[in-house]
Amino acid sequence: MGSPNSGKTSLATKLAQFIYDNKSATVLILSTDYETPTLPVIFPNKKADELFSVGVPLSKTDILQSEVLKSFVTVKGKMNFGFLGYMDGENKFTYPSYDIKKAKALLTVLMGLVDFVIVDCTSSLDNLLSEEAVVMADTVIRLATPDIKSISYFSSQLPLYVDPKYKTEQLIVVLNTIEKELFLPIEEAKAHFKDIAFTLPYCRTLREQSIDGNLLKAITNKKYVKTLKLIAEKVV
Ligand SMILES: Nc1ncnc2c1ncn2[C@@H]1O[C@H](COP(=O)(O)OP(=O)(O)OP(=O)(O)O)[C@@H](O)[C@H]1O
Ligand SMILES: [Mg+2]
Repeated sequence: MGSPNSGKTSLATKLAQFIYDNKSATVLILSTDYETPTLPVIFPNKKADELFSVGVPLSKTDILQSEVLKSFVTVKGKMNFGFLGYMDGENKFTYPSYDIKKAKALLTVLMGLVDFVIVDCTSSLDNLLSEEAVVMADTVIRLATPDIKSISYFSSQLPLYVDPKYKTEQLIVVLNTIEKELFLPIEEAKAHFKDIAFTLPYCRTLREQSIDGNLLKAITNKKYVKTLKLIAEKVV
């Protein structure tokens, strides 16, 4: 979870790939965003008959494992790596609304199916899948960026997480450097957020991959991969 545009989708994708490649585990990314659906961003070249929406199992009376499995989008050459999210053109009103019980049921089914469920949350807790993921997660990665907007986001939103149900076993706060051209007040942001465990460096390839829809391609930036590895080791 984290502030808008802080790198949640990019980090979720890279972390999932890293865990899949290095831990020989079954991994699923669940993207909860129905305002900017993630499937068209991650799989811009997939044909319509290769894409499925998480909205379908969520709209059934009960969350059925068979329906959930049918909705996984897979990556060629990567067995046991799946993606679950919303498709191009979909929005909040494409499917009947679901409640928090259904969100919980879906996450429970996913946890039974794969070793690692990595949830790419929305910034807003209004999205019930995001809210329940934060409640159920073993580890929450909280992403911030070193700017006044991210500070304002957390000042507004963190009070919403004081309920004990949001108490996670492990919270990892990450500062993400999403800008290179401008001076970024990294030290000031660290002092402000206090509990930063990692600072993800700027990675030009990642930026390019996001623009071109190539987030599933590898990254070789040593500094970025080094920090990603440290985060992955904490999570695993
Ligand atoms: N470490 C990084 N280095 C360079 N660019 C980055 C880095 N992390 C993220 N970005 C870029 O920042 C932009 C926002 O990233 P991303 O879409 O992952 O954020 P998000 O938090 O998922 O956004 P949203 O709130 O819209 O869901 C993208 O263009 C991405 O490539
Ligand atoms: Mg996103």
